[in-house]
Amino acid sequence: MNQPANAGLDHAELQKRAAADGAVDQVRPGMVVGLGAGSTARFAITRLAERISEGRLSDITAVPCSREVGEVAARLGIRIGTLDDHPELDLTIDGADEVDPEFNLIKGAGGAFLREKMVEQASRQVIIVIDASKASPVLGSRRPVPVQVVEFGWQAQVRYLESMGARVRPRPGVGKAPFRTDDGQLVLDCAFGPIPHPREVAALLDARAGIVAHGLFLGMATDVLVGTDDGVRHLSRSGDPVPR
Ligand code: A5P
Repeated sequence: MNQPANAGLDHAELQKRAAADGAVDQVRPGMVVGLGAGSTARFAITRLAERISEGRLSDITAVPCSREVGEVAARLGIRIGTLDDHPELDLTIDGADEVDPEFNLIKGAGGAFLREKMVEQASRQVIIVIDASKASPVLGSRRPVPVQVVEFGWQAQVRYLESMGARVRPRPGVGKAPFRTDDGQLVLDCAFGPIPHPREVAALLDARAGIVAHGLFLGMATDVLVGTDDGVRHLSRSGDPVPR
């Protein structure tokens, strides 16, 4: 059954759903598809499940990027696989918090960015689905960069990140407990402000022992679908419009 046109969705949600539906249009029978976390990717999961149950897509296996996404997808009747079973994926559909004109991303508001990055690096095509508010001239202008750290010595990482110029906030969880990722680690949200040279920042984060992952996804997205008031803009890394 198709999702009803409006169904009580607000402006941004309509844009997200339109972008997500456009991404699912790229899925072909027999594909192995990575599923990202977050509200926009959730629209894609719902659409994918509809296509499967309608018989319009067959033999689809999904590799979820978080435990919760796996549970949701399985509940909707999508066959679930693991990255171990499927080390090469046809495509991944995921959301983002900020997207710059070179398709670099900040991700991780949902805390699944380590697994999202692992699944995306294994994917031939990475389709990012966003509403128009996520497009950004310079990464960091609007959102902090999440940094996943091991618990041992985490305050040393705070000092390191501050020395890089970030305002650091440990991500809170439920009650007094800190937020923990699916892999049991902590997240430090790092407000750098605009990041004109994201590769330099990423290199400093990648080089630091104790930092497990960060939310700068550079050069990974192959396509960006932006939901706008005038429809979905489909941008592809090749510069060519992607066939719909
Ligand atoms: C999950 O960890 C995130 O990377 C999300 O993909 C990102 O925060 C976008 O989420 P929304 O689609 O909910 O805005």
